[in-house]
Amino acid sequence: MNPPIDSQRMEKIVSLCKRRGFIFQSSEIYGGLNGAWDYGPLGVELKRNLKNYWWRTMVHERDDVVGMDGAILTHPAVLKASGHVEGFSDPMIDCRTCKAHLRSDQLVDKKGVRQCPNCGGKDLTEARQFNLMFETHVGASAEESSVAYLRPETAQSIFTQFKNILEVSRKKLPFGIAQIGKAFRNEINPRNFTFRSREFEQMELEYFCRPEQGMELLEYWKEERLKFYENIGLSRANLHVLNVPDEDRAFYSKGTYDIEYDFPFGRQELEGVAYRTDYDLSQHQKASGKSLEYFGEETKERFIPHVVEPSAGVDRTVLAMICEAYAEDQAPNDKGEMESRIVLRFSPRMAPVKCAVFPLLKNKEQLVAKAKEIVALLRPHMAVFYDESGAIGRRYRRQDEIGTPFGVTVDFETFGEKDQALRDTVTLRDRDSMKQERVSIGELVKFLSSRIR
Ligand code: GAP
Repeated sequence: MNPPIDSQRMEKIVSLCKRRGFIFQSSEIYGGLNGAWDYGPLGVELKRNLKNYWWRTMVHERDDVVGMDGAILTHPAVLKASGHVEGFSDPMIDCRTCKAHLRSDQLVDKKGVRQCPNCGGKDLTEARQFNLMFETHVGASAEESSVAYLRPETAQSIFTQFKNILEVSRKKLPFGIAQIGKAFRNEINPRNFTFRSREFEQMELEYFCRPEQGMELLEYWKEERLKFYENIGLSRANLHVLNVPDEDRAFYSKGTYDIEYDFPFGRQELEGVAYRTDYDLSQHQKASGKSLEYFGEETKERFIPHVVEPSAGVDRTVLAMICEAYAEDQAPNDKGEMESRIVLRFSPRMAPVKCAVFPLLKNKEQLVAKAKEIVALLRPHMAVFYDESGAIGRRYRRQDEIGTPFGVTVDFETFGEKDQALRDTVTLRDRDSMKQERVSIGELVKFLSSRIR
């Protein structure tokens, strides 16, 4: 059953993202550019942690995957061969009453009558195909200039570089090529915060194989990708797998799973895992006239490899992590009274700041100096934040709100004032349980590193 839509929760999340510097509207001071977003100091850390973890698990920890970083500007021949120039479009309908441009699947059906979701108008145009690609021109003068496209997916440069990468990496099937990078789509109606944007990032793997391995690898990658999402803190209960029915799949795909997530605005796609057969490489071989075949040493045959593609959205995954992490609960203030708090329960692996360091009082030089020493000790290993201003409870609260999993406080016990046994120890506070324990400064790096990796 689909979860209920919770627009209030989503509003709170959007507001927190702006207030604490995760995500801002792009060009905001000029009224904003629809479908474009800027990530602030905390958003960029979260995004980087996600991309680094994807790269680590999909490339560095495997023998069978190599990476690449392709150009965004794409030769039109590439996108003609892939079918994007002809067919990468959505059906668009205009509302004659409020002049809104709508994707046809966004219309509301009231007792069999289609209406505009914005104004309820029933005076609608026929559907027409709207190509989602951004076209641009390269070359200094008008005569020299020729059309190029901003890539609508990162995948195509992987296919067009397949032969070069095969040769330099000397990999044998099955093997994959991974890429993280920007993609652009002129979406008819960008919405749900960053969920549907016009500029976004993808994390894509094209995993090449023999034809008979395709269906099995589709299952394998679906499971691997589900594990990935659990490892970045999304709960299994909020993740769902949709086996895309034949009539909704691309004609060349023999099987596609959508990995979906229960966002506050509904269950929506996070990632597609598709068995694309040999469609892309065949198309590029045909159009370029260059062989994209693979020679199997064992069987002595030449053939075009098939491909299974797990394709994830960076921005959608960041948004899912924020939605999953957002919580409101009760926490004691400095007087021990319970207050409501906002907390982002990010997995420590993904949290933008891993550890905050506080001197108990900012006007005690000894405490401040020791806290700064600890910052210097931790900094080579993790993102750390130093904060000396305000009551300690308020400082904890500020860190809870940005999802910092650990807080270290230097107090008088650190100098063994009452108990020599506590000398060179600090209080370590856990964001979620709010429990505090004494940990020796010498143990801190090891203790924290094991929890954030
Ligand atoms: N190469 C296959 C491909 O691009 P897709 O399903 O169109 O497949 C893959 O896109 C992923 O890219 C989606 O699951 C989503 O996470 C992300 N994505 C696609 N369009 C997006 C948009 N307009 N805004 C944000 N993310 C988007």
